[in-house]
Amino acid sequence: MKQMDERVVSTGGNGSGRPSRQINVVLRSSESYASTSSSAQALESEPVAVAKPLSANDPFLEIGRELDSMVGLDNVKLLIYEIYALLQISRMRSDAGLTGGSHVYHMIFTGNPGTGKTSIARIVAKLFNKMGVLSKGHMIEVERADLVGEYIGHTAQKTRDLVRKALGGVLFVDEAYSLARGGEKDFGKEAIDTLVKAMEDHRNQFVLILAGYPLEIEHFLLTNPGLPSRFPIQIDFPDYSIDQLIQIAELMAKDRDYTLMPQSVFKLRQHLMQEKTMTMFAFSNARYVRNVIEKAFRHQAVRLLNQYPTGSPGKQELMAVRPEDLKWEK
Ligand SMILES: Nc1ncnc2c1ncn2[C@@H]1O[C@H](COP(=O)(O)OP(=O)(O)OP(=O)(O)O)[C@@H](O)[C@H]1O
Ligand SMILES: [Mg+2]
Repeated sequence: MKQMDERVVSTGGNGSGRPSRQINVVLRSSESYASTSSSAQALESEPVAVAKPLSANDPFLEIGRELDSMVGLDNVKLLIYEIYALLQISRMRSDAGLTGGSHVYHMIFTGNPGTGKTSIARIVAKLFNKMGVLSKGHMIEVERADLVGEYIGHTAQKTRDLVRKALGGVLFVDEAYSLARGGEKDFGKEAIDTLVKAMEDHRNQFVLILAGYPLEIEHFLLTNPGLPSRFPIQIDFPDYSIDQLIQIAELMAKDRDYTLMPQSVFKLRQHLMQEKTMTMFAFSNARYVRNVIEKAFRHQAVRLLNQYPTGSPGKQELMAVRPEDLKWEK
């Protein structure tokens, strides 16, 4: 029977001088963590906090803080930590005269709308930059219309130009499956072929991340048998639970110095529960929450101007998002 390890690695709130919450990444591995030790059983039943101390100049410090500010996504956080660990150890191995091995970091992100794919891709770009894998660490975000041209040869040229712009960073292709939409004759295929060629020609000079909704990506990979093996890292971005969506809403409000009143949180929760079940396939998760919250800020502003035609509302009033500020169509 496979024994699962659970270790909790703390990546925040240490030595940075700035208090921060911890991201508790639960590391699971199929190999025994301490098979000879009597603590192995304890590990199985209860995660043990191994607060791995990060030095002040550790490249993961800032990345950890950014990950920390994202709600949920434990599997994603874990994978990013694994990549960091691998890069760190590769460095030590090459210092010790061992083979570093060359790794391929092209990735596929699958997940419904608004599950954090673009945000995480930016963090990944930054991590690779800090670890010396990518020289610039920027991200070029493109979709079908940016890659596909209007006549034969145009697509290859457009795609090559974008790859050139992405060198030293990440090329993030959103809704990647749409490149396979039109079949053999479609210029989308030319874009795919050009991307595949660029992966060979510019090995290790950029990281390609294809993103899309799970079913469509699956279909896309089936229609391109050569593709899956070129993307050894696949990350699934699960839908957020209602509690996580509420946490995200509160975080978004807090970041901008607003407070959601308890009744507003209640109203939002009711609405999200309804919305999530009604639009199961197209529900846009954190993006939906962001839109609702931003709309609420506007409604709050209008309400306050009406309420206080002369003079300024107090600080508390300026911060409070009241239930009547939360409005939805329908
Ligand atoms: N886990 C999270 N915690 C806090 N905010 C989040 C989280 N996930 C997403 N968001 C916020 O939700 C919005 C949408 O996220 P993002 O653009 O990364 O999602 P996406 O998966 O790329 O969506 P789409 O498929 O629609 O492009 C952003 O404003 C982002 O900051
Ligand atoms: Mg996106």
